[in-house]
Amino acid sequence: MHLGVGKQTYVMISRTLSEMSVPETRLQSLRVEGYAIVSVDHTIADRNGRMPNALRIDADQRFFAASLDVASAVAHGRYSHEQQPHSEGRRRLILTRRVAGIEPDPSNPLAILWNPAGCSLAQACISMGVTAGVLAVIGATDVFGEFLHIGYDAFHLTRAGRARLPGGRPLFPRIACGMTPEEVLADHGLTPGPVQVLDRAASATLVTWRR
Ligand SMILES: NC(=O)c1ccc[n+]([C@@H]2O[C@H](COP(=O)([O-])OP(=O)(O)OC[C@H]3O[C@@H](n4cnc5c(N)ncnc54)[C@H](OP(=O)(O)O)[C@@H]3O)[C@@H](O)[C@H]2O)c1
Repeated sequence: MHLGVGKQTYVMISRTLSEMSVPETRLQSLRVEGYAIVSVDHTIADRNGRMPNALRIDADQRFFAASLDVASAVAHGRYSHEQQPHSEGRRRLILTRRVAGIEPDPSNPLAILWNPAGCSLAQACISMGVTAGVLAVIGATDVFGEFLHIGYDAFHLTRAGRARLPGGRPLFPRIACGMTPEEVLADHGLTPGPVQVLDRAASATLVTWRR
C-alpha cells in the first residue's frame, strides 16, 4: 500500500486507520536509525540552540547525506532540518505537540505533523506511505529521547573530538543527569561497533550502535 499525503488522501487514510486496527508502535519491516554528531560535552548544539561550525565536519556531512538519500523517511522536531540538496524529495515526520495525533503539513505535501502522545509511530508512518526501509531520526534532543522509548535498531553516533559546547543542548535528555551518550545507548539495549575515523585532524569518529 502506497499512500500520498495530500489533503484528500489524508481524509481517506484517517478513515482507513480508524477502521483497521494498528496496534503496534513499530512496523516490523521499518528500521529506526538515529544520526547525531556530538561535542566533547555530549551536546548537539550550543546554549542558544544553534549548531556551530565545529559540529559541521565534511566527512560526517557526506556520511549523513548519503544515509538520508537511501532512507524511506526522516523524523525530526519542529526546529530541526537536515538542509541537504535532496531534502525536498524526502518524506518526513515532524514532531510537534501542536497537533493531537497526525495532520498533513500544509507547507509540505511530503510531510506529516506528528504528536507521538496521540498516535503511534506505525500509524504515522502508514499515513505517509512508509512501511519499510529506514526511518532516519535526526533530532533534536527530545526527539532522540522519544525514539529511545520506541526503540532504535541502530544509532550512528559521530563524535567531534575537538568541539566544546559546555551548557549546550544534550544529545539525550538523560545526559542532563550526568550520563554519557554511550551509557544511554547501552542502557537501551544497543552495543557499539568498531570506531571509524572520519577526520583525523578534527578528531572526528563514528561508531554505529546496533540492537
Ligand atoms: N548535532 C546534531 O546531530 C543535531 C541534530 C539535530 C538538531 N541539531 C540542532 O539542534 C537545534 C534544534 O534543537 P531543538 O531542540 O530546538 O529542536 P527540535 O527538536 O527540532 O524542535 C523542538 C520542537 O519539536 C517538537 N518536539 C520535540 N520533541 C517532541 C515530542 N516528543 N513530541 C512532540 N513534539 C516534540 C516540539 O514542537 P512544538 O513546539 O511544535 O510542540 C518542540 O518545541 C538546531 O540548532 C539543530 O541544528 C543538532
